[in-house]
Amino acid sequence: MQPDYRRIVILTGAGISAESGLGTFRDKDGLWTKYDLRDVATPEGFARNPTLVHDFYNARRRNLLDAEPNAAHFALAELEQAWMARGRKITGADHDFLLVTQNVDDLHERAGSERLLHMHGELLKIRCENCGSIRECRTDIDIASVCPACELPGYLRPHVVWFGEMPFYMDRIQQALEACDLFISIGTSGNVYPAAGFVAEARRGKAHTVELNLEPSEGRSLFREAHEGPASEVVPLYASRLLAGEYTQMW
Ligand code: OAD
Repeated sequence: MQPDYRRIVILTGAGISAESGLGTFRDKDGLWTKYDLRDVATPEGFARNPTLVHDFYNARRRNLLDAEPNAAHFALAELEQAWMARGRKITGADHDFLLVTQNVDDLHERAGSERLLHMHGELLKIRCENCGSIRECRTDIDIASVCPACELPGYLRPHVVWFGEMPFYMDRIQQALEACDLFISIGTSGNVYPAAGFVAEARRGKAHTVELNLEPSEGRSLFREAHEGPASEVVPLYASRLLAGEYTQMW
C-alpha cells in the first residue's frame, strides 16, 4: 500500500547550490577549509575584525548575484506548486509544504519557491545593530556604511545567523516538523545544529525520512531512505516519483 503523505518538510543545505557555482562549507575546497569560521561567522569575529567579515560576505554576495538556480531548485518549486494544488483538489485535505533552508542565497525564491524559511538568514539583506531595521542589499558594505533607516554609520551587519546566535523561525519549523509525515534533507552534511537534529524530530512525529545527498552525510543512519548523487539529478527524479506516487523504498 502506498503511504498517504500530506505534510512535507524539506531541509536544504549548501549542496543544493553547489552546481550553481556557490561553494559548500565542508567539502574539499569548501569555505571552511579556506577561512576560520571563528573569524568570519561569529559575533566575536565581527567585533574583532569587522572589515574581514564584511569582505567575506561582500565576496559571497557578488558571487551570488552571478549565480543561477539549478534543476534541483526548480524541481522543489514545482513540487511545492503541485503538492499544494493537489491538496486543494481533495476536499478537506490538509496538505502542507514547508521548505527550510540553511542557505543564505536566494536561489530557492528565484526558482519560484514560496513556502520558504531562511533559518540562517539572507545574504542579500543587511541589518542595523543600532535600530534593528532590515533592508535589501545588493552592494558591498563596509564599516563606514550608513544605515538607510537611522542614518548612522558603523552599525550594519549581514542579516545572517552566526555561530552562537539563534537561528530564525525555530517555533514555526518545530511545529512543521512535529506535524509532517515526510521529511526530506537535501545537500547538507548534518554537522550543524539545530538543523542536524530535524531528522530525529521528524522521526519522533512518525514521519518518513529521506536523505538526498552527494554522499552519505554524518546523520545518514538516522534516515529511513537515502539516494546519492548530484542534487540536479536526484532531486528532480525524487520529486517526480513522489508526485507520481512511486516510492523507491518503503519503510
Ligand atoms: P556543508 O558544506 O557542511 O555540506 C554540504 C553537503 O552537500 C555535503 O554533505 C556534500 O556531500 C553535499 N554536496 C556537495 N555537492 C553536492 C551536490 N552537487 N549535490 C548534492 N549534495 C552535494 O554545508 P551545510 O550542511 O549546508 O552555517 O552547512 C550547514 C551550515 O554550516 C551552513 O548553513 C553554515 C555552515 O557553517 C552558518 O554559517 C551558520
